[in-house]
Amino acid sequence: MILPMYIFGQPVLRKETTEIPVDYPNLKELIDNMFETMKLAEGVGLAAPQIGLSIRMFVVDLDVISDDLPQYKGYLHAFINPQIVEVSEETNISEEGCLSVPGVHENVRRPAKIHVTYLDENLTPHDEWIEDFAARVFQHEYDHLEGKLFIDHISNLRKQLIKKKLIAMQKGQINCSYKIKQNR
Ligand code: NI
Repeated sequence: MILPMYIFGQPVLRKETTEIPVDYPNLKELIDNMFETMKLAEGVGLAAPQIGLSIRMFVVDLDVISDDLPQYKGYLHAFINPQIVEVSEETNISEEGCLSVPGVHENVRRPAKIHVTYLDENLTPHDEWIEDFAARVFQHEYDHLEGKLFIDHISNLRKQLIKKKLIAMQKGQINCSYKIKQNR
C-alpha cells in the first residue's frame, strides 16, 4: 500500500521518535508499505516520520543505484531502533535531497564512517561500521528520527536562498509526483 508523504511543515517531522517494542503490531506489513512508497517516489531512504509515524525505524534501498555502485546490489534494509555509537573524524561533503523536502538539494558535510547498532526486519541485532554512501543515507534517515532534516545542516546563507521554497511547502504549494499528506 502506498502511504502519503509528510512534507516540510508537518509537525511530525520535527518530533523525536520513540523506540519500537518487539511486539509492535503488523511491523512486517509496515516495512513492506514503506519500501513500496519509497520505490514509487524514487527515494533511497524513507524514515517513519515521513509517513506520519513517530517511531524509530527507516528503510533504505541502495539496490536502485547499483548500476552505478555495484557494491550495493541487493542492498534493501530496514533499520529498527538504530543507534549511532561512534563516528569517524573524517568527514565528506555530498549533495542530499529528501522526499519530505521536494525540489531542494543541498551539500551536507557528514562523518565518512559510522559505528551503528540496529535490529533488522527479522529483529536480529546488528553491530557494525558503515561507510561511503550507505553511511550518508543512514545518517540522513537517522536525523529524521531525531526530528532533524538535512537542511538543518546547511549554512545560513543557503537557508536564506531556499526560504521561499520552504514557505511555499508549508503552505502546501508543492509540486511532486507522489502522493502527499495534505492536512495538518
Ligand atoms: Ni529525508
